[in-house]
Amino acid sequence: MKKAIIIGTTSGIGKELATILVNNNYKVGITGRRNELLEEVKATNPEKFIINSFDCTTENNSEKLSELVSELGGLDLLIMSSGTGDENSNLDYKEDEKTVNLNVKAFTEIMDWTFNYFRKQGFVHITAISSVAGLRGSKYAPAYFASKAYQINFLESLRKIAKKPIYITDIRPGYVDTAMALGDNLFWVSSKEKAAKQIFSAIKNKKDVAYISKRWRLIAWALKIVPRFIYKRV
Ligand SMILES: NC(=O)c1ccc[n+]([C@@H]2O[C@H](COP(=O)([O-])OP(=O)(O)OC[C@H]3O[C@@H](n4cnc5c(N)ncnc54)[C@H](OP(=O)(O)O)[C@@H]3O)[C@@H](O)[C@H]2O)c1
Repeated sequence: MKKAIIIGTTSGIGKELATILVNNNYKVGITGRRNELLEEVKATNPEKFIINSFDCTTENNSEKLSELVSELGGLDLLIMSSGTGDENSNLDYKEDEKTVNLNVKAFTEIMDWTFNYFRKQGFVHITAISSVAGLRGSKYAPAYFASKAYQINFLESLRKIAKKPIYITDIRPGYVDTAMALGDNLFWVSSKEKAAKQIFSAIKNKKDVAYISKRWRLIAWALKIVPRFIYKRV
């Protein structure tokens, strides 16, 4: 049986992925701050889930990951789904600090630990949920968009260091129907179920990058080519 850890399994995309993984013969370490929600996930398949409830911004993530890997008896796949960010055009630093602490600082610690663990082991699959938001700046949520750009570039860097069979999959959703779907004018919103199914397929196929849903690739392409003098007006 394969072993996985999902950081951020209490709700949303991470929770959906947890169900798919156990149905595909994985034992899964599940994390997040809200322990009662992790208990609910575990109750659906007690043999296959191991809980380790912690806040990535205040705990020692490396220690927590080591504990989980020992309990699981190894690790084949780590999925970083925890993320935070809100609209903050007023640039309230307290808000931005929360985003940076999770999406940048904790993200980096988790990637560094996992990559080095896998480098020693000789095989690895790291998957992280970044976002289409990481492709350009935003006047609504500057720190969130910048943190996602950081994640995208970090993952690309890991991919350059990694030698097969070490795989790094960057999942870039547009909008998914969860608490994190920011804004009022949402479009092409995927259900959590559809998003998780497409993410699992990207993991199985060892994709470098996957847009969720697939048609968000078009928006990504448009975002990349639109000239700066036009983009700054929208
Ligand atoms: N939904 C979208 O439209 C969308 C679009 C693009 C990218 N994404 C990305 O997808 C990822 C998953 O988000 P989601 O849509 O599934 O939203 P979600 O349901 O709000 O899930 C966020 C997860 O992050 C965890 N988390 C938040 N703060 C944490 C902390 N300090 N320490 C540990 N865990 C923490 C939450 O668990 P606790 O609160 O229990 O700690 C929860 O499990 C995020 O990285 C997000 O940026 C989402």
